[in-house]
Amino acid sequence: MTGNPYGDHGNKDASITKPGGSASLVSSPGTGHAEHTSDAFLIGDNMTGGYGKSGPDILHDCTIAVNKGEIAVIVGPNGAGKSTAMKATFGMLNLRKGSVRLDGEDITDLSPQDRVVKGMGFVPQTHNIFTSMTVEENLEMGAFIRTDDFKGTMAQVYDLFPILKEKRNQPAGELSGGQRQQVAVGRALMTKPKVLLLDEPTAGVSPIVMDELFDRIIEVARTGISILMVEQNARQALEIADKGYVLVQGANAHTGTGKGLLADPDVRKSFLGG
Ligand SMILES: Nc1ncnc2c1ncn2[C@@H]1O[C@H](COP(=O)(O)OP(=O)(O)OP(=O)(O)O)[C@@H](O)[C@H]1O
Ligand SMILES: [Mg+2]
Repeated sequence: MTGNPYGDHGNKDASITKPGGSASLVSSPGTGHAEHTSDAFLIGDNMTGGYGKSGPDILHDCTIAVNKGEIAVIVGPNGAGKSTAMKATFGMLNLRKGSVRLDGEDITDLSPQDRVVKGMGFVPQTHNIFTSMTVEENLEMGAFIRTDDFKGTMAQVYDLFPILKEKRNQPAGELSGGQRQQVAVGRALMTKPKVLLLDEPTAGVSPIVMDELFDRIIEVARTGISILMVEQNARQALEIADKGYVLVQGANAHTGTGKGLLADPDVRKSFLGG
């Protein structure tokens, strides 16, 4: 097989981007802030803040955004604030400056629970499943805000991740790392989110399992769900990204299309190992 195993999702797949979409939403590679993000589906806009009431600022005017059906990827060194930026977008941080908007609505003051109701799903970096519960119970927990019948959504999750159907009555803690990540993503999908925040969905899995997980994530994006994800596997993640953000010390260092960042000599040298 030659070329990108994921096809050319990154920049040219018009079926999953608005006409004139991603290209107009990002600045050229190598620059800091994304421009014209104000019409993106989800935006954490110029976020500044840290943990607790008096903790130091971790994020400094940090902007991350994703369009409908797009995959946006956040990369950067350990401790750069990637998880913090995700938590801020999900309402787990008190912002001292900046705002978060979803589909044009200012949701800066909403609790995480209320953001779930609005259509956000979040898979944290750690502790993202209930290990003593079965796979199916995990999915049921994911549907906690729903009052309608969620069996159809569960069937969709099992279609996406067939291994979960096989292991549905097994405690999730008995699953492999890659399978646990599928449980975590599946759980988040149970609320039928419009945007999915994934913090290192491929952490600790083999390259083959990583490829499979990325394929599933692309499948989810093709259904129109926006994906905002943090990834340690920067090169592979930028391959499938419509938009990429390099964060350094809580600030935007580089923003561009996935392919643009992969081609940027500065980004390659500093963050992609040459
Ligand atoms: N709950 C917390 N309370 C106080 N400080 C925190 C907390 N979580 C993270 N930090 C601090 O915020 C900074 C950014 O951490 P964060 O977890 O966002 O980085 P990251 O880019 O996700 O790193 P990694 O690649 O290791 O996951 C670090 O200096 C960290 O010590
Ligand atoms: Mg992190």
